[in-house]
Amino acid sequence: MTVSQDPSAPLVVLVGITGLQGGSVARALISSDKPYRLRGLTRDASKPAAQAFAAQGVEIVSVSLTVDNAVNVRKAFEGADIAFVVTNFNEHMDKQREISEGKMLVDTAKALGVKHLIWSGLESLSTLSGGKYSRVGFFDAKSEVTEYAKSSGVPLSVVEAGYYATNIFEAPYALKKQPDGSYVFGLPIPATTQIPIIDVAHDYGLYVRATIENPALGPGSEVLSGKPISFGDIVAKLSEVSGKKITYLELDREAFIEATGMSDYGPMLSDMFEAFGFPDYGGKEIASESLLARKPRSWADFLTATPAHDLFQ
Ligand SMILES: NC(=O)c1ccc[n+]([C@@H]2O[C@H](COP(=O)([O-])OP(=O)(O)OC[C@H]3O[C@@H](n4cnc5c(N)ncnc54)[C@H](OP(=O)(O)O)[C@@H]3O)[C@@H](O)[C@H]2O)c1
Repeated sequence: MTVSQDPSAPLVVLVGITGLQGGSVARALISSDKPYRLRGLTRDASKPAAQAFAAQGVEIVSVSLTVDNAVNVRKAFEGADIAFVVTNFNEHMDKQREISEGKMLVDTAKALGVKHLIWSGLESLSTLSGGKYSRVGFFDAKSEVTEYAKSSGVPLSVVEAGYYATNIFEAPYALKKQPDGSYVFGLPIPATTQIPIIDVAHDYGLYVRATIENPALGPGSEVLSGKPISFGDIVAKLSEVSGKKITYLELDREAFIEATGMSDYGPMLSDMFEAFGFPDYGGKEIASESLLARKPRSWADFLTATPAHDLFQ
């Protein structure tokens, strides 16, 4: 239930500790009854999120995880027994950069003899669709890094993040308020399309923790996180819990792209949703809840736990 300072406890190095996934992993390991030393990486150790973890005994190391900074990246991982690695496509939207940085992090873990690398991968929607949906850089890049990590021989677990519950409110295609006060949620796919939804800050770390602690997983495991639900049910439950009138609208591709207001990024998002016609991000198995230290939140749990004023802005 605390961060260990005992040198015999495994050292876990966490990328993205100030962010959603890395922060969730840190919380999940801090709440474990097993002892871990934790080192969180950030470019800015003065961030409140970094400071809050430092106050709990997490070692915070400032480093920029870019290819031109490989020497300092290696120093930041030195001594790691276990490493959690995520890349942030959203910050630069550059597929090749995400691949290069992901591969560099794999190389670093391999060179330092890390005993268990946990990588936040995703499937290649381009491969799954036979090349039809080829614009979704952040899926395809992560898949390329997964394949690279597998072929490197580093002891590897892949924990794919499900679809963030917060996307419904924050993404460019999020709920749109109508002049009469009702809301519309429009996507270029049928309402029956299912995705694995996750309250990422609350629950993603549970899956990573399970790959470390549950012998049924461990190195060699590949899991998807989240709970399956259709977009139609997402909207229906949101309407029920909030008491607001919310309608799901199946848009054609062009209307969806226009609604995002992003002529460059919109086609990529449309490709992503159209490819979600494949089950569960490409059929990857969702880890059974029985393998986790506690039950993750469903969409309904997330809505109940999150004040409506934080969701509807
Ligand atoms: N939205 C979804 O539904 C969804 C689903 C599956 C996967 N994803 C993927 O999730 C990833 C983002 O993860 P997240 O949600 O945890 O992001 P986040 O909350 O925005 O946090 C990003 C983290 O990455 C760190 N970071 C970024 N660039 C860095 C650099 N050059 N050096 C060191 N640290 C760096 C940031 O640290 P500092 O800023 O403190 O340095 C921060 O802690 C994206 O690649 C996205 O594709 C998203």
